[in-house]
Amino acid sequence: MHTFEFDGEKYKKASKHQKEWGNSLIGELTLKGHETILDLGCGDGRLTEQLAQLVPNGSVLGIDGSSGMIETAKQRSRYNLVFTQMDINRIHFHNEFNVIFSNATLHWIRDHKKLLYNSFMALKEGGMLLWDFAGDGNCSNFYEVVQEKIQDENYKPYFNNFEWPWYMPVKTDYEKSLLLLDLVDIT
Ligand SMILES: C[S@@+](CC[C@H](N)C(=O)[O-])C[C@H]1O[C@@H](n2cnc3c(N)ncnc32)[C@H](O)[C@@H]1O
Repeated sequence: MHTFEFDGEKYKKASKHQKEWGNSLIGELTLKGHETILDLGCGDGRLTEQLAQLVPNGSVLGIDGSSGMIETAKQRSRYNLVFTQMDINRIHFHNEFNVIFSNATLHWIRDHKKLLYNSFMALKEGGMLLWDFAGDGNCSNFYEVVQEKIQDENYKPYFNNFEWPWYMPVKTDYEKSLLLLDLVDIT
């Protein structure tokens, strides 16, 4: 799996900002209550649980690659809310979801062409993607420092096999790539 390990219990206490972004994303949803929703990179499951509360007659599946996150998220499982450990790079659903939601996660996914194709396949007709992930310019000071240290002769040997793990596109480039794929309407 191309995933990383996180401590779900620590994340629960240290994810105030992610929850704020996620809440504003959830605020964009208008639901009837019977929808099926997939949450990509559900983390500790708190936002996934909120989604499940909005669809009492539907169902929500939260997936995450980290066993620590899934273990924590599973404590929130209920009749219409299931959590599974799964790599987002390997999703293969077909015609199953009305909404694919994702908050603060998809910058960890480097191949967005594949992600968009697999997501499109997973959506039911008329379904929607509702995603929020880091783009170009986010955390720029942090990345500058990291890049500088990676190049530093003292640290270089430790980064021989290091692959930059994040994909943070320029928003307009991403919009163009969506239009080229001809998969979705951007509203
Ligand atoms: C910052 S957390 C966001 C969690 C949650 N969506 C939230 O907003 O609180 C990013 C999550 O993405 C998950 N993740 C990163 N790469 C992944 C992959 N390839 N497959 C599945 N989960 C992945 C991590 O394990 C982590 O739980």
